[in-house]
Amino acid sequence: MTENAKKKLFIKTWGCQMNVYDSSRMADILRPLGYSSVDGPEDADMIILNTCHIREKATDKVFSEIGRLKKHKDEKEAKGGKMIMAVAGCVAQAEGDFILQRAPVIDMIFGPQTYHELPEMVLKANGNERVVNTDFPVISKFDHMPTEQNQGAAAFLSIQEGCDKFCTFCVVPYTRGAEYSRSPESIIEEAHKLADNGAKEITLLGQNVNAYHGEAKDGKIWGLARLIEEMAKIDAVKQIRYTTSHPRDMDDDLIRAHGDIKKLMPFLHLPVQSGSDKILKAMNRKHTADRYRDIVADLRKVRPDLVFSSDFIVGFPGETDQDHEDTMQLIRDVVFASAYSFKYSARPGTPAANMTNLVREDVKSARLTELQELIAAQYLDFNKSCVGTTTQVLFERKGRRDGQLQGRTPFYQAINVQANERLIGEIVDVIVTEATANALVGEVKTSESILKSA
Ligand code: 5AD
Ligand code: SF4
Repeated sequence: MTENAKKKLFIKTWGCQMNVYDSSRMADILRPLGYSSVDGPEDADMIILNTCHIREKATDKVFSEIGRLKKHKDEKEAKGGKMIMAVAGCVAQAEGDFILQRAPVIDMIFGPQTYHELPEMVLKANGNERVVNTDFPVISKFDHMPTEQNQGAAAFLSIQEGCDKFCTFCVVPYTRGAEYSRSPESIIEEAHKLADNGAKEITLLGQNVNAYHGEAKDGKIWGLARLIEEMAKIDAVKQIRYTTSHPRDMDDDLIRAHGDIKKLMPFLHLPVQSGSDKILKAMNRKHTADRYRDIVADLRKVRPDLVFSSDFIVGFPGETDQDHEDTMQLIRDVVFASAYSFKYSARPGTPAANMTNLVREDVKSARLTELQELIAAQYLDFNKSCVGTTTQVLFERKGRRDGQLQGRTPFYQAINVQANERLIGEIVDVIVTEATANALVGEVKTSESILKSA
């Protein structure tokens, strides 16, 4: 082994699935340079903080983490070693210069569109140059990523990035830039590679994934439905998901695909944010609450077992009790299997940050609690309704308890099952035996049960 092959890389990731994916791709890029991933910052040769800027106090959190990690760098350097400390992701993009000034300990600051330039950046940082790279390069990073990656049975594949929707509360159009779709050929090729490496499930990723419109070599534009259809033809790929989608881009082809393509899993994350038309308008969401209800109904018509999850913001400026009640009513009407919900927080540089009719913090908190209780009750009901049914489970990893494996059902429920370790990476029939608010418990149905925890 060369000296080079021993470098330790620690990446800490905040935020969305896209960031999780980006972190694993950064590790792929750095591997040929001799870096291999470790689970902690101790004695690392490089630490990357892959940050998220979407909600409140994002920058503060990054600075306190830098403060905590600095001692590892000091210790390493006291021993004559070197540690590169970097901030990546959306906080780096939005606050690059500020971090440069405020945190002299940071060697590299780079935004999400520049990861393919990491080797050059590392070279500079190794030469004791501080690097700031927050451009939106003309060349797509996707064309410059290594093809080698090993994500296991449930893999992610980034197909689209950025957003042109400009919801008034959201920083994404500013940190991730304009919407960009990869070419269908490069995506299908990557899907084949992931399948060759054992992927049974592929989740297509994008900030606005159903706005996907990739141009093929023949000049034809593919929508998401077409892409999913092609991907479903790959034998080894058994399950397909996509996230995150926008109601505006839920076109007829995509709705039909949910009925026609059995590999497309019956779980859809479709953020609505609010059930009040007045608030949706102020958010610039470009759809009404009833339009959302109609999309859900159309989808359930073609795929009756489809379950939904969503994102909600409570306490957007101007939100009255009635607006909040409209959101609660939408939740009662649609019935969600899960949801992410947040108190509105002003993000600097977004249009909503200038709005004045703010909602009091205690009112926001009360609304959030009420909403979360309703969603939790709906999720528990759904989980309970699964007890006694047989479901397919893709086992992803060992569970917390001895002899247990953890996996996901088609409805994206977490499930724990006593099962032999060799079933990791397999899709297995499981009988659901118990349900809690957050997860299911089950038993392997087939003859594999004899092998349980053997
Ligand atoms: N305040 C609160 N929540 C927000 N989100 C995005 N921006 C804000 C904000 N300023 C939430 C939205 C989005 C999710 C990823 O984060 O619900 O769908
Ligand atoms: Fe943000 Fe709206 Fe774009 Fe989603 S659709 S990333 S919430 S601006």
